[in-house]
Amino acid sequence: MKTIILHSYKGGTGKTTIALNIAIGFAKKGYKTLAIDADLNAPTFESIFTGLKPKYKFNDLFEMQKKKTKSDADKNAVLKPPTPKDLPVKSLIHENLDLIFANSKPQFGVGLLSMDKNFHVEALKRLYNAKSEFEKLGYDYLIIDTSPSLNLASINSIIIADASLIVLRPNKYGIAGTTFLLKELYSMLGTVKRKDYIVFNQIVVGTPDKLVTQWQKHFKKRLGVETVGTIHCNCGIALNMLFGNLIVEDDAENEFLVAIDKIVKKLHHDLKN
Ligand SMILES: Nc1ncnc2c1ncn2[C@@H]1O[C@H](COP(=O)(O)OP(=O)(O)O)[C@@H](O)[C@H]1O
Ligand SMILES: [Mg+2]
Repeated sequence: MKTIILHSYKGGTGKTTIALNIAIGFAKKGYKTLAIDADLNAPTFESIFTGLKPKYKFNDLFEMQKKKTKSDADKNAVLKPPTPKDLPVKSLIHENLDLIFANSKPQFGVGLLSMDKNFHVEALKRLYNAKSEFEKLGYDYLIIDTSPSLNLASINSIIIADASLIVLRPNKYGIAGTTFLLKELYSMLGTVKRKDYIVFNQIVVGTPDKLVTQWQKHFKKRLGVETVGTIHCNCGIALNMLFGNLIVEDDAENEFLVAIDKIVKKLHHDLKN
């Protein structure tokens, strides 16, 4: 099983859109795929897959204390903490795609959203354990959609990943922020085996190609990070989202899907060994 994480310096760059469409891309190629909403600050799966009601969510894996239910009838009942295999639910959009939701209620993310290092050391152990359990369940790809910026929960997900897609909107701010993010990551984690890639998303139509090439060179030369996707602003995608739909319908001409397919093939190729 290979683990791919989507990350960014800022929110709104298109991580979730790209994460889900890549997950479907792998599923359509016949790979059993599990997409995890690990954006605890702003969970998205619950507002996209409104018909699905998972019993457990990603946060539940990290509950350090057993929770008591509130209703009078079972005041003393103790909820058993779930094991990783209890979390995935069928996506119902493709038989090879399963999902894990995040819980948006802040009390479930208190530990995960904190900067408590001891908590996160334990959380990292649980994450490694979950990863090996997901592998046992037969998943070929694990796609983790994180929350932006350098926070300990996202860093833990990055630590367990084989590859990361760092998504940014190309403008001065996006370039500077992403450069900072990568430098910090490398100084914190050192040189690791993970493969990192840049995806330029929402490139404003009219941006000179020369500029995009310059930005690509910047990341390659300064940080050794390759670009795997350059995707323009596409109002169809934004319009879809108006109706809570992040899945881009099959269309061979669609630049976004062409880019997604290229990324899926590249990741599959680079992560083979
Ligand atoms: N290439 C694109 N062109 C136009 N809109 C996009 C594109 N990619 C993403 N979006 C839109 O940008 C918004 C933020 O995307 P989202 O995937 O939720 O970002 P993030 O997960 O990084 O916060 C959504 O409304 C989405 O539809
Ligand atoms: Mg998101």
